[in-house]
Amino acid sequence: MEWTKEQRYRRVEEVSSEEMKELTEKVNSCQWRQTFHIQPPTGLLNDPNGFSYYNGEYHLFYQWFPLGPVHGLKYWYHTKSKDLVHWENVGIGIHPDTEFDSHGAYSGSAIEYDGKLHILYTGNTRDENWIRHPYQCLAIMGEDGVVKKSDQPIIAEVPAGYTDHFRDPKVWEEGNVLYTIIGAQRENETGCVLLYSSSDFRNWKLEGEIQTELEQFGYMWECPDYFELDNQGVLIFSPQGLEAEEDCYQNIYQSGYLLGDKLDVSNRLFTHGEFIELDRGFDFYAQQTMQTPDGRRILVGWMGLPEIEYPTDRNEWAHCLTLPRELSVRDGKLIQQPVKELQALRGQQSKAADTINNQTKVYTGFSGTAYEMICEFENQDAVEFGLELRAGKQEKTVIKYDALQKKIVLDRTASGEEVGMLYGTTRKCSLDARKIKFHVFVDTSSVEIFINDGEEVFTSRIFPRNHSEEIRFFAREGQVSFQAVKWEREQMLGQAERSSEELVCR
Ligand code: FRU
Repeated sequence: MEWTKEQRYRRVEEVSSEEMKELTEKVNSCQWRQTFHIQPPTGLLNDPNGFSYYNGEYHLFYQWFPLGPVHGLKYWYHTKSKDLVHWENVGIGIHPDTEFDSHGAYSGSAIEYDGKLHILYTGNTRDENWIRHPYQCLAIMGEDGVVKKSDQPIIAEVPAGYTDHFRDPKVWEEGNVLYTIIGAQRENETGCVLLYSSSDFRNWKLEGEIQTELEQFGYMWECPDYFELDNQGVLIFSPQGLEAEEDCYQNIYQSGYLLGDKLDVSNRLFTHGEFIELDRGFDFYAQQTMQTPDGRRILVGWMGLPEIEYPTDRNEWAHCLTLPRELSVRDGKLIQQPVKELQALRGQQSKAADTINNQTKVYTGFSGTAYEMICEFENQDAVEFGLELRAGKQEKTVIKYDALQKKIVLDRTASGEEVGMLYGTTRKCSLDARKIKFHVFVDTSSVEIFINDGEEVFTSRIFPRNHSEEIRFFAREGQVSFQAVKWEREQMLGQAERSSEELVCR
């Protein structure tokens, strides 16, 4: 079905509760609803927004079009958690209902300031000729959870030299100064980020462009993020318009980081190493980070990409967020590990250890559609070895080490229903190691695979049949030894049982 402009810009507030109920039933009857990931009650989820800690809880909003699996009028949907694991659906956090965000409350970020959660976001507007005019807006949430918008935008103009692709403010505080970086496009149609500063959250001064060594690197940098970790500066962003290169940049749009010296805010100079992709899988984009009260830097991404159809579209919903990952720096690389809090969801445990030789084997307790598993392979002379997940008669999702090419390979050729075929069915990255460890999170329609303690991550949606639930271990042309432990996942509480009306209204 083609969605008309009217349908895309229909307001959820005007939809009857019967219609919402029907929509919710259609969504809930989908065989691919997740069990421990944040997913939209109906409609389409995209970027994580306003990821923060405030008033004793984590807050994580997301871009939301409530009425179907398309990019239409965007709201911010609000979820919160005390432990980064059990998330409660709160309801709509920001409605696109003013002249400065009439065509969508687009992405942004939040930090606590002056005892309140201060949210910066992009108000997307279109004029009568459908020309875009972005505003950077402020909204403030108090302890009562009510979000109030400031009546004027805090940045009302796109600065000279840049186009209307100007969005996604990420705010932080350093000393007594507030900074925000905003994704932008220069008039020559190359991407970059702009730095602003403020002393009060209301008046913002343009400092200028962050000076990177990537002058010509795609046509737009979405969702930038800057933070310091282990005495280094990290600039994360999602560039659009990169050509695929060998194993890199295989998805429609990319997401990655530059690791370097701390940003010198006086001249905005950022000296850094090469651009490295954050995730090697098929479905990852528009990530955002926050700092926990105990000082950890945590990242959540959108487990999806724009402009690609997904099988869940038929049930009127699309996408979910990734699990939260803790970031650290090791040997000049950003390392990503699932947050330790996720261990709280570990249920019944199974173990296996074996040496397999040119064969594929299954073990008691090793099957399922929602689980966590850690598997360490060593002493191999096999040419390749690995795991088949969500495997059935015709289906399997394969993660393996190709010891000849020294590459990790994720293969979703036979994962189930097809998705994003235009962009291929395998993803690879180089890794030279004697021991290979896969830390796997499988949910009904996704895999997140952390390799060698977070050196690489492969995140992907998959759409297998319900009964494709075997876990198989294999070695080809030689042998490998492994040890594996697997935990059933307890269901993530809080999401399931609420009515559609409750989900939409506060
Ligand atoms: C990234 C993005 C952002 C924008 C938002 C709109 O996926 O395009 O740049 O703010 O989505 O939903």
